[in-house]
Amino acid sequence: MERGMIAVSFGTSVPEARTAVEAVENALRREAPGYGFARAFTSPTIRRVLAGRGERVPSLAEALESLRAAGVRRAAVQPTHLLYGVEYDKLKAETEAFAGAFDVLALGRPLLADTGDIKRFAARLSQAYPPAEGSAAVFMGHGTDHFANAVYPALQTGLRLEGREDLLVGTVEGWPSLEDILRQLAPGGPRRVTLAPLMLVAGDHARSDMAGDWKPRLEAAGHTVRCTLTGLGELPWVQEMYRERFAELLKKTEE
Ligand code: CO
Repeated sequence: MERGMIAVSFGTSVPEARTAVEAVENALRREAPGYGFARAFTSPTIRRVLAGRGERVPSLAEALESLRAAGVRRAAVQPTHLLYGVEYDKLKAETEAFAGAFDVLALGRPLLADTGDIKRFAARLSQAYPPAEGSAAVFMGHGTDHFANAVYPALQTGLRLEGREDLLVGTVEGWPSLEDILRQLAPGGPRRVTLAPLMLVAGDHARSDMAGDWKPRLEAAGHTVRCTLTGLGELPWVQEMYRERFAELLKKTEE
């Protein structure tokens, strides 16, 4: 097998959330028939939890090593990460360490890698959540100390420019925060709020932070809240964006 691909994810230990990772992996695999495939999870904690349940998921270095050992000469590594950030920096360094092991080793960009991606994502999110009187939707992203956190307020601007004051972006660990969301919702009075994860999977954060913390705090502010436990990876339009991203990358491995 001369060509190989790796779908690299942070990983999740929530079994129901795996669907989202696998849906994206399948969308990528369909784009590269004839390629050897490997899955990698970067989180050591998640790999340890899964190993405890009898499932061994390789790290990125292990997956790269397995492709090399299988005789792959041209390898494409596509992250399922939403944005550049600490995790992306790490997997970039890990990939670069294998540069000499392949004739071509190409690393793909995250889902929201430039202004065009953010505008397109805002437009598709706006279509997926049509406006309704007295309603709002709040998207919960992860958030980070890394400068790439700027993607979240940029996405909020993208939604505003789509004319959608009713679609709000917040983060668990970055900016904007839930306090910022509550402040923006307050002037409209109590609303029907749909809460949805702005993360690949509806995993631990969606269950603990979104359903367990954000929902009761929004309710305490008078809103009626419905939680959607659907990871972005489960949405066909998001899978399509990943597929397009991967198609760009494959061009590089086929040059
Ligand atoms: Co986290």
